[in-house]
Amino acid sequence: MSNKALEIKNLSFKYRHNSKETLKKINLSVEKGKWLSILSRNGSGKTTLIKLAAGLLENSSKGSIKIFDQEVNQENFASIKEHIGMVFQNPDNQFVGPTVQDDVAFGLENKSIERNEMIERVDSALKDVEMIEFANREPNSLSGGQKQRVALASVLALQPDIIILDEATSMLDPKGRKSLLKLVQKLRSQYKITVIAITHDIQEIEQSDQVIIIDGGKKKLEGKPAKILIEDEKLESFGLEVPFTKRVRKRLFELGIILPNDYESKEMVANKIWKYYSKM
Ligand SMILES: Nc1ncnc2c1ncn2[C@@H]1O[C@H](COP(=O)(O)OP(=O)(O)OP(=O)(O)O)[C@@H](O)[C@H]1O
Ligand SMILES: [Mg+2]
Repeated sequence: MSNKALEIKNLSFKYRHNSKETLKKINLSVEKGKWLSILSRNGSGKTTLIKLAAGLLENSSKGSIKIFDQEVNQENFASIKEHIGMVFQNPDNQFVGPTVQDDVAFGLENKSIERNEMIERVDSALKDVEMIEFANREPNSLSGGQKQRVALASVLALQPDIIILDEATSMLDPKGRKSLLKLVQKLRSQYKITVIAITHDIQEIEQSDQVIIIDGGKKKLEGKPAKILIEDEKLESFGLEVPFTKRVRKRLFELGIILPNDYESKEMVANKIWKYYSKM
């Protein structure tokens, strides 16, 4: 299998009833097993981009989209679908089964997977997301974070090569967000899954290998999280909230205290401030 999970060349897209182009000449390449974050403010074209990549929208432009070297189009849709699992924003819209385990089994039933293997895969996926003890619970009785774990298990059971999270954490509290992203990170490295995570929260890009920022349908910035996070003026111009540590550093600078310009965690900044304070 190719080492490129996703390769997009010169992709533009316009919805039929929209006068403007939603995506403009996007180029993007994601290696197998890496974590890409797509970051932008609302309405910038993130969901459109991943729907095109997953073949859920038809690419009518001259540009090309390839998943593991295979062009994404209607002819190849069945095989493209095999590679990709998606988790969406609203946990309540993703359940089809009366119990957690039925829900995870549902996608496997659709693929007519043999019963013993099905039981094994459901079991293993629920263990992977630490939800095995909830196997017989009604999905509606779970918390938001637990629901998203089950949604993730349903995707995992299908053994995808790429997992796409479209703002999958946005309805969770900060702790739930962190814990879901940590889990995704663990599964990514365990199963060498490629992760494409869409977010408009800049705090969520830290675990990624590669970040792109889209604004007005165009790719505006690309790089590792550390490189993106120091672009505070650009980030603000794209309507993205500058991280807390950056804001603190800026305020300190105005007060004549200069902290190094590379990105650091809240704890590191707090330690530095503490050191300055104790010297005063
Ligand atoms: N079916 C559609 N028909 C026409 N225009 C659409 C359609 N779906 C989305 N759009 C428009 O395309 C643009 C990009 O939408 P998209 O949903 O891709 O953005 P997004 O970055 O995912 O936004 P959000 O952060 O709010 O989820 C928006 O201006 C939106 O109004
Ligand atoms: Mg969206």
